[in-house]
Amino acid sequence: INIKTLRAATNGVITIDPGYKNTGSCESAITFLDGEKGILRYRGYAIEELAEKADFLEVAYALIFGDLPNKEQLAKFHADIREHSLVDDDVRKILEAFPKNAHPMGVLSSLTSALTAFNPVSVNIESREDMYKAIVRIMGKFPVLVGWTMRKSKGMHLNYGKKSLGYVENIMYLMFKQPNEDFKMNPIIKNALDKLLILHADHEQNCSTSTVRIVGSSHAGLFASLSAGISALWGPLHGGANQAVLEMLEAIKADGGDTKKYMAKAKDKNDPFRLMGFGHRVYKNFDPRAKIIKSAADEVLNDLGVDDPILDIARSLEQEALNDPYFVDRKLYPNVDFYSGIIYRAMGIPVEMFTVMFALGRLPGWIAQWKEMRLKKEPIGRPRQVYTGANERPFVECENR
Ligand code: ACO
Repeated sequence: INIKTLRAATNGVITIDPGYKNTGSCESAITFLDGEKGILRYRGYAIEELAEKADFLEVAYALIFGDLPNKEQLAKFHADIREHSLVDDDVRKILEAFPKNAHPMGVLSSLTSALTAFNPVSVNIESREDMYKAIVRIMGKFPVLVGWTMRKSKGMHLNYGKKSLGYVENIMYLMFKQPNEDFKMNPIIKNALDKLLILHADHEQNCSTSTVRIVGSSHAGLFASLSAGISALWGPLHGGANQAVLEMLEAIKADGGDTKKYMAKAKDKNDPFRLMGFGHRVYKNFDPRAKIIKSAADEVLNDLGVDDPILDIARSLEQEALNDPYFVDRKLYPNVDFYSGIIYRAMGIPVEMFTVMFALGRLPGWIAQWKEMRLKKEPIGRPRQVYTGANERPFVECENR
């Protein structure tokens, strides 16, 4: 549809679609999603195949540049990321100023925005080189910010990455390496983390991605746009769901493990409680990522020999929901974050870092969407409204009100 023709034909009529449930905001060639059939593809590649065969950096490359990289392209991408992974020492000072118990998502959003001050070159989108530099810079620096954010909250010393490590191993190194300790990453954890990051890497025009695109549409820089995306991801109805799921499972366990009681609360319209990790705006069949994550959770817990009672509670809730008309009628199935927290916990990642792990995974998706939006020279995002306030009325002086 030619939008100018549509605008002329509708004579300025404004459509109201709260939550944009039926409104497309752009054309995109990055991620295909069929919510009815449960299909998800990045750049045409099935999510199941990517999760099985690719590593996260390959997927990041495909999302950002359009195709899976060959060996040379991948090696260059990784080398360039490594080269740009230093973070200005003054960023540490900003980090130091945060209270120890600040939520890591707030800290990460602030530090990502602060990067703009230390890397002020604005991206000339006509220059491929400029665009590429901005991308490898943030791909390199973001894991460092993540590591620092966690270390600060735990009172650990701040470190830098290790050049000989792969991208995903380096993330764990940045988060967990202790001084005078040999760092070895368990291959089971490496494999599971690769999978988790791949599954979170893009999901078309979700809340945080739309935020990145709309902020970027004003030609604010990449880092500022990403910082806004991180804030959008923080909320419990979006990325914050993974933390909320685990807290919910813990609360059910502490309350005696009575899952039926919580199912009843979730169905009670007078109770604000929702079953976290259930439901999705687009998937009305099943979330294909949840299937992969569920089996990854089983694998990781088995391989690591973890016997987590939380997993039994999760399984009960899932089974009960699958047989409950309330959930069946509304097509409410476990989403990607129902099981991810259980895996993160088994990896030793603190619960308040779960949404940060989601942000690490979503970073290439946000970058790809921002790049696509800028290269297509999309106009500034500026929705309209239908005004429902007071009609014109006279001003009344303060003393007469
Ligand atoms: N528990 C109980 N009831 C629910 C749930 C839930 N988790 N989710 C939806 N419903 C009910 C709603 O009350 C509503 O019922 P009604 O038709 O009787 O009014 C119906 O299902 C439709 O729900 P909406 O809120 O209209 O669906 P929407 O598409 O706006 O919201 C959302 C989707 C936000 C994901 C919602 O399902 C939810 O809050 N889930 C829990 C939070 C969560 O897991 N978020 C993560 C999403 S995935 C991600 O971002 C990675």
